[in-house]
Amino acid sequence: MIEIKNLKKTFDGGTEALRGVNLKVNKGEFISILGPSGSGKTTLLRSINGLEKIESGNIFFEEEKITETYLPEVQKKTGMIFQEFNLVNNLSAINNVLTGLLNSSSKFLSMFYLFTKEQKLEALKALETVGLLNKSYNRADELSGGQRQRVGIARAIIKKPTLLLADEPVASLDPKAADLIMSLLKKINQQFNITVICNLHQVELASQYSDRIVGLLDGEILFNEHAKNVDKFTIKEIYR
Ligand SMILES: Nc1ncnc2c1ncn2[C@@H]1O[C@H](COP(=O)(O)OP(=O)(O)O)[C@@H](O)[C@H]1O
Ligand SMILES: [Mg+2]
Repeated sequence: MIEIKNLKKTFDGGTEALRGVNLKVNKGEFISILGPSGSGKTTLLRSINGLEKIESGNIFFEEEKITETYLPEVQKKTGMIFQEFNLVNNLSAINNVLTGLLNSSSKFLSMFYLFTKEQKLEALKALETVGLLNKSYNRADELSGGQRQRVGIARAIIKKPTLLLADEPVASLDPKAADLIMSLLKKINQQFNITVICNLHQVELASQYSDRIVGLLDGEILFNEHAKNVDKFTIKEIYR
């Protein structure tokens, strides 16, 4: 599904955020990238959907090398979930979900009347999937953190992606809401066979919900193991 080959990224100023990352992700897998702050997790995710330019190395998406011409299709098939939800506060939940259908260049939120009835039904369906149908017409800023992240997930799945990239989706949530969001991601992963790559810094959540855990430190992969094979000694390597 995804193959990353010798990916390197150096930011202006000289920070080597990724130092030759190699990673294969199979279709339908739930992978967690575990690592302390600054280890390169966000840069890695953003490289996959083109939010960071690939400067050295290659990424293959569904067997095809990502190039400038292929990138729009990759972005169409990829949903992204953020730590801070990135919702538009003064819009209703359903309208936030509908923004998931806009491509990144069309930011004309005043064009909501252009969405078809079918698209609105799809948005309601996505909200139902995340258990939030009853809040569809509430403004985003009336929702709790966990509910806002559920809207974020609905916005990511409305375009029926084959890949979900979640960048620390529970870092701003209390433990109970975090568990709910992780189970929801797992449910979507299994029910729709959507591949999930999830950045986390909580070891327990990574072990509980993922098939495989990748340990990242200073832009390098330290381990890449089935979740059940990752013990506290392995984990210590990235938090030493
Ligand atoms: N836009 C940027 N410009 C310069 N340095 C950056 C930028 N984004 C990230 N970095 C640096 O790259 C490294 C990896 O960052 P990041 O991928 O955000 O790590 P993580 O998500 O694991 O916290 C850090 O040292 C960070 O300061
Ligand atoms: Mg990050």
